[in-house]
Amino acid sequence: MLIIASSNGAIGMDQAIRALKNGCSALDAVEIGIRLVEANPKEHSVGYNGYPNILGHLELDASIMDGRTLDSGAVALLRGYPYAISVARQVMERELPHVLLAGEGAERFAREIKAEQWDAMLTAETVDVWREGLKAVGTTQWVDRQSDIIPEITDETPLLDLVTLATDPERVEGTVNFIAIDGNGDIASGVSTSGWAWKYPGRIGDSPIIGAGNFADNRYGACACTGMGEMAIRAGTARSLVLYLKTGMPLREAARQAMMDLRDLGGEFIGGMNLIALDRNGEHVGMSSRAGAGYIYQTADMNSYEECEREVVRIPGRWGGVARD
Ligand code: GLY
Repeated sequence: MLIIASSNGAIGMDQAIRALKNGCSALDAVEIGIRLVEANPKEHSVGYNGYPNILGHLELDASIMDGRTLDSGAVALLRGYPYAISVARQVMERELPHVLLAGEGAERFAREIKAEQWDAMLTAETVDVWREGLKAVGTTQWVDRQSDIIPEITDETPLLDLVTLATDPERVEGTVNFIAIDGNGDIASGVSTSGWAWKYPGRIGDSPIIGAGNFADNRYGACACTGMGEMAIRAGTARSLVLYLKTGMPLREAARQAMMDLRDLGGEFIGGMNLIALDRNGEHVGMSSRAGAGYIYQTADMNSYEECEREVVRIPGRWGGVARD
């Protein structure tokens, strides 16, 4: 039994590993661990109190995958429901011939299955951070720096410049990953995120895209990503890593190759990429495009999780773009 997670999964690790020890499935452990991160108001890249989109709306993405069957469920742009991972799991498990529900459809589904709904998804402090972030980008016509007032946003308000200029106050590349192997040797993986802070409304990252930010296959292993989702979508990163395992590559080499594939993406990179992965034998690894990043793991016979350093694979831009940390 083993769980690996991105470092911000620490808050959920204890309960997730206990669940495995009590006979729960890898899917249960992944869901339990991620729910605790989603409920953590201090985590601004996942679930409740994540940083909102440019209009101040919190839109959540999540996916879960069952390595036994390659069954998957995902939601995107989910508003008002903090436990996106649980809604994603229900998409997978209910009588529904779909994998991914987005926006109003995802919310309708969440309501129909009576998922837990919260009226307020942002604290007042986070709303203030969002407002300050908009003021800081300055020169747009709808952020009035003289009066320090953000006028009413209408459907005609231009957002393109703002989204390009706005920067996330904590450089949140957050997102949480959990991958578990249970007592039966079954593998499951889950990812949940509030996405890129101040993103364009409707932007969907890699987290709910099976094969991009999340992939699990009992026969080979699993991979989950954090970082700039646009890159993982374009390179199919999580699926690539598992496919490299399928070719017989050792885990670390498969992970390096999946990271190096990102170098083939043309254009200037404006974000970093990270992944965690394990193989069916319980070997695990973490990779990042920047130095100093870690991930955590715990086995059933450990009393607490341990942190591991991620190997660095730099991703220079192919057309002269520069990878930023
Ligand atoms: N990796 C999370 C996102 O880009 O939304």
